[in-house]
Amino acid sequence: MSFIVAIDGPAGTGKGTVTKRISERTGLINIDTGAMYRCVTLECINKGVSVDEESKIKQVLENIDIKLIHEGGNQKVFLNGLDVSKEIRTEKVDNLVAKFAALKIVRDKLTPIQQKIGQDNDIVMEGRDIGTVVFPNADIKIFLDCSLEERAKRRYKQNLGKGIDTPYEEVLSSIIERHKLETEREIAPFVKPKDAILVDTTNMNIEEVVDEIEKIIRNAWHK
Ligand code: DC
Repeated sequence: MSFIVAIDGPAGTGKGTVTKRISERTGLINIDTGAMYRCVTLECINKGVSVDEESKIKQVLENIDIKLIHEGGNQKVFLNGLDVSKEIRTEKVDNLVAKFAALKIVRDKLTPIQQKIGQDNDIVMEGRDIGTVVFPNADIKIFLDCSLEERAKRRYKQNLGKGIDTPYEEVLSSIIERHKLETEREIAPFVKPKDAILVDTTNMNIEEVVDEIEKIIRNAWHK
């Protein structure tokens, strides 16, 4: 039986970095499910398919091949054989991904792929519905949270680092809008699993968050 750690949380909690560090420290393979939703979105953009064209999205899903490859601690994302690790993080994908991720056909395609990965490997998987839908029986469920204002502050600083100078107010309203889309969607809405351990990162740095989660894992996983 494989060992599964589910980490759910919104964007801006440092979830991606935390999961990667936990993987380095524990040897659990990290799986970023957001990257998969981003691949579907990118492929639809590339094919000129919009979010209301269900039959065309279905076709895209039938032919899509997504691979998460781990190289020296880094995750690379391949979409139909091409390395799209950078492209899936661009603004064009950011702006549409929550809409594609709300579609039942998209979730019905990706959820079983994620479940299959967990059947064969000891993993730490991050997303929005890992502890509720993908692995309701995960060995450990962590819910990372953070205030909307702090999330916007972090994204604002991250943008400045990339040379993008979007006003703070604009960043905040886009975070609020995405949060609304993710929490109010009908399928697999983003909610805290009842039995998850809450880690509020608002006043914590990444190192503190990683230490806390590592402690939780070591207490439960004896390998
Ligand atoms: O974590 P992220 O920002 O890379 O996620 C991209 C989008 O995919 C975001 O809108 C939430 C959505 N998502 C989801 O609905 N379910 C998941 N398990 C992972 C991500």
